[in-house]
Amino acid sequence: MSFTWSAKDHKSYTNPPAATGLKRARNDTGNKVTVVLGAQWGDEGKGKVVDLLATEADMVCRCQGGNNAGHTVVVEGKEYDFHLLPSGIINSKSISLIGNGVVIHLPGLFEEGDKNEKKGLKGWDKRLIVSDRAHLVFDFHQVVDGLQETQRQAQEGKNIGTTKKGIGPTYSSKASRTGLRVCDLLGDFKDFSSRFKNLVQQYQSMYPSLTVDVEDQLKKLKEYGERLRPMVRDGVYYMYEALHGAPKKILVEGANAALLDIDFGTYPFVTSSNCTVGGACTGLGIPPLNIGDVFGVSKAYTTRVGIGAFPTEQLNAVGELLQTRGHEVGVTTGRKRRCGWLDLVILRYAHMINGFTAIALTKLDILDVLDEIKVGVAYKLNGKRIPHFPANMEVLHKAEVEYETFPGWKTDTSAARKWNDLPAKAQNYIRFIENHIGVPIKWVGVGKSRECMIQMF
Ligand code: GDP
Ligand code: IMO
Ligand code: MG
Repeated sequence: MSFTWSAKDHKSYTNPPAATGLKRARNDTGNKVTVVLGAQWGDEGKGKVVDLLATEADMVCRCQGGNNAGHTVVVEGKEYDFHLLPSGIINSKSISLIGNGVVIHLPGLFEEGDKNEKKGLKGWDKRLIVSDRAHLVFDFHQVVDGLQETQRQAQEGKNIGTTKKGIGPTYSSKASRTGLRVCDLLGDFKDFSSRFKNLVQQYQSMYPSLTVDVEDQLKKLKEYGERLRPMVRDGVYYMYEALHGAPKKILVEGANAALLDIDFGTYPFVTSSNCTVGGACTGLGIPPLNIGDVFGVSKAYTTRVGIGAFPTEQLNAVGELLQTRGHEVGVTTGRKRRCGWLDLVILRYAHMINGFTAIALTKLDILDVLDEIKVGVAYKLNGKRIPHFPANMEVLHKAEVEYETFPGWKTDTSAARKWNDLPAKAQNYIRFIENHIGVPIKWVGVGKSRECMIQMF
């Protein structure tokens, strides 16, 4: 199955037959990866879906974000939370890979590994591969994240509500071409040290209150680098071999979510990476041709952590009920999540960008006690329905949500294991969502643990 570029291919590329256009017909494009992506504002239950699929995966990859993510996996009553490690690390038979699109805070990575090792996760460092092209998050990036939040608050009277994990400043360093990567840390340390010092100076000129003990930082980074060294590979070549070697089941675990995407999210109240499907290609170095299924994960309602527009938010007893019943507290920051009704406008928008092949609808059980359930089906501006999701936040704030109301099923669904176990009113709710987005719902979540997932087909 190995891929070789031949002159024949080149000819067909430069001289396409008029009738078929620029098409390369190949049947050896290699293994396809399955991508799991958040379809709302994060915390949809991606970790749980990945864990479910990872039980039979050979590889699980993270392609973007950093330890701003918090993915919960519950196995045999034990709860794990993952931030930088792919959730598939639980599966002792699969390889976990952190791709070039991820930003890595080394102290955070090892702290996470060590913490999970104490919970019984053995040998994680033997099955973790890290791309040499991934950018490094330094402690001062995290301090700067906090300083920027303070500055936003002072200048605009509001901040973003970031996780303060240094995500924005690190992706800024990457884009301004002053960032440092894993390959730099493991290369000539003298060169790394001088570039590190330059980067510190740049940030200190922007933020004069920033103090950095450069020598202490470099000493620690050298130690972390040596611990990391055995895990580091050329990520592009590693993925190429995985795609074109023996048949493999490869999963990509998205972090954050569509509405937090730097290009498509509710800018500027977003994170700093592409959390939509393109991020899987750029964050791993794989061709679009190798993308197979794209599974979107959505809760049966909506939540959001941090600041920013949230058209279906319920600042009332319903919102409080969803927050308490759903234990809606951020895994990374411990902040209460804002809660509201399911918004099908954002799910349709996420589908336009990602082209979901199926959806996992989680936390249906949280709705079990409600008398009636609403779903946002359209936005109106000046009384007129709009067909798109507004880019401008002022416009989004003005959008009026049109709701469809459903009777609650008022039945405990947590023990349901198949479609027929669900009450008819819950089935009706699920079918409505499916029809409205135009994407089949493949799983329905009714509880935290692995077995609480109804598979529909
Ligand atoms: P992620 O960031 O998308 O991986 O999601 P988080 O782990 O941050 O948040 C999802 C939360 O919902 C976690 O506490 C999960 O254990 C929990 N969860 C996931 N699916 C279900 C479900 O179907 N029912 C219930 N009750 N909890 C769920
Ligand atoms: P998972 O993978 C929920 C939000 C933050 C903040 C904004 C920017 O667990 O779904 P950042 O620290 O990235 O600069 O913060 O994005 N945010 C998330 N919210 N789940 C996440 O990840 C998030 N990652 C970032 O709360 O509003
Ligand atoms: Mg989360």
